[in-house]
Amino acid sequence: MTTIGIIGAGHIGSQLARLAVQHGHDVVIANSRGPETLTDLVDELRALGGAATGTTGGSAAGSTGGSARAATRDEAAAAGEIVVVTTPLAAIETIPVEPLVGKVVIDTNNYYPGRDGDIPALDDETTTTAELLQDHLPGARVVKAFNHIGAADLTGHATPAGTPGRRALVVAGDDAEAKRVVTELIDAFGFDVVDAGPLAEGWRIQRDTPGYGPRFTAEELRAKLAEATRG
Ligand SMILES: NC(=O)c1ccc[n+]([C@@H]2O[C@H](COP(=O)([O-])OP(=O)(O)OC[C@H]3O[C@@H](n4cnc5c(N)ncnc54)[C@H](OP(=O)(O)O)[C@@H]3O)[C@@H](O)[C@H]2O)c1
Repeated sequence: MTTIGIIGAGHIGSQLARLAVQHGHDVVIANSRGPETLTDLVDELRALGGAATGTTGGSAAGSTGGSARAATRDEAAAAGEIVVVTTPLAAIETIPVEPLVGKVVIDTNNYYPGRDGDIPALDDETTTTAELLQDHLPGARVVKAFNHIGAADLTGHATPAGTPGRRALVVAGDDAEAKRVVTELIDAFGFDVVDAGPLAEGWRIQRDTPGYGPRFTAEELRAKLAEATRG
């Protein structure tokens, strides 16, 4: 089992935390306001982990449910073997750099200028959101994932491998091993995986592209990535 650091405890961060503890991972989760504001979520996550074990209290020896604790951003980054960055895009400059060197970092972020402010390099499409995070985290192995599925659907659309019509999610990244790790995680969480290629190809699943939002199988999603146009 893996310790997953989650920076951002909103719609997506809390949903990924739920999936993680239900699948036996230990979660260390942070927001901007401090761990003391995450008590309710952590109580819920511990109950989910306990329910997954058939006991209470999370990852007891021999159990399958994971544990959860709230932490600061720095603690979540340091503790996670895999770390998810799932804040508004403008916050990525606050993500700690040193603790993430060498780690698999999942980037869920999207660019909404009304929320994030205007970012010229995204407006003129000379880069992508996940490349911005990679630039901020030079030693990390960033994988773009979970950016094109609504938060509720992360639990609502999850099905076991082999289920007919199983929903697929995209990964993009420059590090093949990191993509393999994230692919395994996504499959365990309940989704097939489509590899869009390197981070620079992540634009194919950004906001307003054909694949962004709806439920698609892997075959359908590959077609949507191919249909995407830039600009
Ligand atoms: N919502 C969706 O369905 C969805 C789907 C796919 C992708 N996304 C993308 O995923 C990202 C997160 O979306 P969301 O909907 O989960 O956002 P959200 O509900 O607004 O939650 C954002 C979280 O980030 C935390 N945060 C903000 N600044 C931070 C900082 N500097 N350090 C640590 N934590 C910080 C917030 O903490 P506080 O509350 O304490 O400020 C909050 O827990 C966005 O880029 C979004 O576009 C969203």
